[in-house]
Amino acid sequence: MARIDLDLAHSYVPTPRTDEDYALLPLRFTFEDGGAYALLGPSGCGKTTLLNCISGLLRPSHGTIAFDGRDVTAATPQARNIAQVFQFPVIYDTMTVGENLAFPLRNRGVPQAQVRERVGRVAELLDLLATLDRRASGLAADAKQKISLGRGLVRQDVSAILFDEPLTVIDPQLKWQLRRKLKEIHHEFRLTLIYVTHDQTEALTFADQVVVMSRGKAVQVGPADALFERPAHTFVGHFIGSPGMNFLPGQWRDGAIELAGRRYMPELPPSVEAALREAGSFRIGVRPEYLRLAPERDRQAVPVRVERAQDIGTYWLLTSGVQEAGALAGTLRARLGVEAAGLRAGDTAWLSVFNRHTCYYVNEELVS
Ligand SMILES: Nc1ncnc2c1ncn2[C@@H]1O[C@H](COP(=O)(O)OP(=O)(O)O)[C@@H](O)[C@H]1O
Ligand SMILES: [Mg+2]
Repeated sequence: MARIDLDLAHSYVPTPRTDEDYALLPLRFTFEDGGAYALLGPSGCGKTTLLNCISGLLRPSHGTIAFDGRDVTAATPQARNIAQVFQFPVIYDTMTVGENLAFPLRNRGVPQAQVRERVGRVAELLDLLATLDRRASGLAADAKQKISLGRGLVRQDVSAILFDEPLTVIDPQLKWQLRRKLKEIHHEFRLTLIYVTHDQTEALTFADQVVVMSRGKAVQVGPADALFERPAHTFVGHFIGSPGMNFLPGQWRDGAIELAGRRYMPELPPSVEAALREAGSFRIGVRPEYLRLAPERDRQAVPVRVERAQDIGTYWLLTSGVQEAGALAGTLRARLGVEAAGLRAGDTAWLSVFNRHTCYYVNEELVS
């Protein structure tokens, strides 16, 4: 396994001029040896491009990649010693499941006893033991993808294992199991794993560190709780969470926050207060989980017009509008308890927006 240092950018255009010409904007990042990482972002944000730069399938147009301090920018995938699992199964139909799993090892002259041991272990982890002697050709798509995963996991000497949305063809139930398995496998084998996905649940359950990407840029890197509690960018607030973070426009005026025509004086760290005063206008970010119903006319609460309150099973989801001078200034979604059951469309409710979880954004960046 290896530590991977990136200092690169990539454009598919021969002479890039603007930021839009870059699939990956300049990025400096280190994947630590033995870490479990996810690259998370919407389709087209550059995840596959980044993964292919790491594996060597693609040479970045700018910059360098080093494995354990050794420059591998010009090295082939073979020379980098990377295992990569793709979105769709890549297996040999004419071989048995066992032969497929053994192939990456046999190919490198690993002794037979060791091959058997390792194939057995990986097959056990992936529930493939019963099918080891079956021909791969007759298997369903998700069984084939499990073999692909196994082929990626079977070697112990690789620098890293890269997964590019590997659970796309897997049905939801099995997906959930395989995600757990991968986590287990990571704990057992201590491999450097880099896992690409557009699915936040997948990323957050699998990875210790999640790299959130938007339009060619890594906007935040951190563990799941940091992405949830302190999104560094409004994009991360929107993208992580279900529903995502709420944002409301705020102004600093005469020593207080003005929001929808009312004044609020929440306790703020001095550095945050100074930044808000200097910026003048900003956005207030609060997660649906951290909004609470407040008593009517509570001085710290914001009046909202209820659009609907839905019973989601384990919680109630309130959707409401914040009005300013007769116009809609923003939407607030709140995860509430059964106290929301009595709310009807058109009602006025009061929500506590300001608490220690509340985040503030100037030019989309978190103020801290
Ligand atoms: N081979 C290619 N040639 C030109 N443009 C590409 C190529 N592959 C990807 N792109 C573009 O680069 C951007 C990032 O793509 P990609 O890395 O595939 O994103 P993701 O994997 O996050 O969906 C997209 O705008 C895509 O259209
Ligand atoms: Mg992709």
